Amino acid sequence: MASNNKITFLVVLVLVAGAVTLFGQAPKKSVISYPVGYRKWAHVKSMVIFGKDHKLFNQFEGLHNVYVNDIGWPSLQQGRVYPDGSMLAFELFALKSSPGAIESGPRKFLAVMRKNSKLYADTGGWGFEVFQGYQSEGSLKDMKQCFNCHASKKAKDFVFSDFAQ
Ligand code: HEC
Repeated sequence: MASNNKITFLVVLVLVAGAVTLFGQAPKKSVISYPVGYRKWAHVKSMVIFGKDHKLFNQFEGLHNVYVNDIGWPSLQQGRVYPDGSMLAFELFALKSSPGAIESGPRKFLAVMRKNSKLYADTGGWGFEVFQGYQSEGSLKDMKQCFNCHASKKAKDFVFSDFAQ
């Protein structure tokens, strides 16, 4: 009986350890809802990535615009740490060529960052989310995949874009 108890104890211990390990590695999702009206935020910059020579061609081929909301705007301008509630949006359109011009085609995705220093402490205080196409439900499984790259911009509070004068 005593040894049975011991075995039960060990089995429980292994299960708990397994659960802790799994939980510890669980991908972190954000709780950011679709930023209705982001097109009325301040326009930060635009860029067209059209060639394989650009290192982000595979992820970001197309025309993108970056926007910042009112809370984040002063920080973007002055290069300061962003307060909670700041949001940035990155919309990417497919390219459509017409005679002598490049136009935007359908939207590929909308990527957003929202500052909440407590909720997203593991990812620099930023929550990340992606809305595919014109969907209003987020599709991102793990914010780390975004943060791993944005982490290189620690000196600018993990934001790449500079305001295009
Ligand atoms: C491989 C690197 C890389 C990865 C991965 C990445 N980004 Fe970015 N992101 C960039 C770069 C570079 C820019 C700036 C683009 C520009 O200068 O126009 C940017 C810009 C942004 C912006 C506008 C604010 C800023 O930092 O300039 C948002 C919002 C954004 N990304 C969200 C995301 C989300 C959400 C994910 C994950 C799905 C993600 N990013 C993954 C490199 C990356």
